[in-house]
Amino acid sequence: MLAIFFICFCLGTNVHAGVIATTSTITDTTTTSPPFYEDAELKKITETCFFDSDFEELTGYTVRRSIAYWLAVTLIPESVATIGLMELRSTLNLEPLPPWKPYSDTEPSDWDFASAPSIQAYYDLKEPRSIDRSLDSTSLYEHNVTTAVAYLDKRFPAIRKIYRRRFEKVHTYKKLINRKEIDQMIEEYQEVFKRVTKALEKMEQVTSLECEED
Ligand SMILES: *[C@@H]1O[C@H](CO)[C@@H](O)[C@H](O)[C@H]1NC(C)=O
Repeated sequence: MLAIFFICFCLGTNVHAGVIATTSTITDTTTTSPPFYEDAELKKITETCFFDSDFEELTGYTVRRSIAYWLAVTLIPESVATIGLMELRSTLNLEPLPPWKPYSDTEPSDWDFASAPSIQAYYDLKEPRSIDRSLDSTSLYEHNVTTAVAYLDKRFPAIRKIYRRRFEKVHTYKKLINRKEIDQMIEEYQEVFKRVTKALEKMEQVTSLECEED
């Protein structure tokens, strides 16, 4: 009985996966690019060998490997977040990501949100913040993140693409941006952030277990 249930469950999942795959193939025929599957791209990231030299390049060769590896704990997630926010802002035609500012930990009130005079102002209140992407960071300079973003873009262009595709899916339904759409976009952003950082963490484990050091 359990076995039957299990088989049915698998079939169900496959059918479901098939539907999703077909939909995105159809979407892709409007462009000339080959189909892009988020799960497959994440899996490729997980299976990448990311060596000491990669960690060093990520930090702009400012430190040697053991320190670079340690710094990456903050540097990688903050860089993935930066890529996501860049793409989110550009999909919605909002202002580009501004230079780092002092960190503010005051949560905007409902009244602040309700009285935001423009979509940009509303977005600025809503945008996820981190002390490590601010002038109050105790571990990073903004240029550290700029360097790491450039390296991640070169090594894993899929990260930016995954964000972009998710955002465009939300955006194409309605051409006018409203506040609800911004909230939805931020949810997508958070979901992608979780999936990508998890894949990168797995990659680090896989590298230490399975890759021959270069
Ligand atoms: C940040 O840049 C400084 C040099 O300005 C460097 O000493 C430091 O190692 C870098 N840190 C990271 C995390 O890349």
